[in-house]
Amino acid sequence: MKFFVDTADVKEIRELNELGFLDGVTTNPSLILKAGRDIKEVTKEICDIVAGPVSAEVVSTDYKDMMREADILSKIADNICIKVPLTLDGLRACKDITASGRMVNVTLCFGANQALLAAKAGATFISPFVGRIDDIGEDGMQLIAEIRQIYDNYDFGTEILAASIRTVNHVKQAALIGADVATVPPAILKALVKHPLTDKGLELFTADWAKTGQKIA
Ligand code: E4P
Repeated sequence: MKFFVDTADVKEIRELNELGFLDGVTTNPSLILKAGRDIKEVTKEICDIVAGPVSAEVVSTDYKDMMREADILSKIADNICIKVPLTLDGLRACKDITASGRMVNVTLCFGANQALLAAKAGATFISPFVGRIDDIGEDGMQLIAEIRQIYDNYDFGTEILAASIRTVNHVKQAALIGADVATVPPAILKALVKHPLTDKGLELFTADWAKTGQKIA
């Protein structure tokens, strides 16, 4: 499973990239707002840090303006992946952007039929929003499972990018189902390493080692 980080915070991205578990980055207008940076400037900085796909989202809702914005965002770097919303205009843009050889991430997916349309439009990634589905009392993971089955039934190459991840359990469940990628907030990505028995075990080893009076030198 590939890990993308869901943030436009360059400091966090740099730190996670140094740890070696970053395969890409996703941003969205809300994350750009949170970062408080110019979209082109911060996206360029991110693309210079991470070699994998960096999703940058168009903000227009009509096909023509989406295509214009996609052209502007594409010029930022070679690893830009254009993010478009799951609407008719967005799917049309997806088809034409992928036809020109660029990556597309179709975002705001909340249903299996939507994911089917995105795959037919040639999307590189489909982003089902797990957490936001859970928020309305439904099961976000069920959607990941349905998309997995549909894509496997027809050998679609579109990668399932589990998004709106809120917990470490979401990551585990998405991996068990076979999502290709999870885009995860920095704090949750770091929390994946945590287990109380690891901390307890390390404490014990450190204490026992001190009692030996030895040094590894
Ligand atoms: C996906 O690419 C989105 O940026 C993101 O996962 C949305 O998550 P949220 O529901 O926590 O805003």
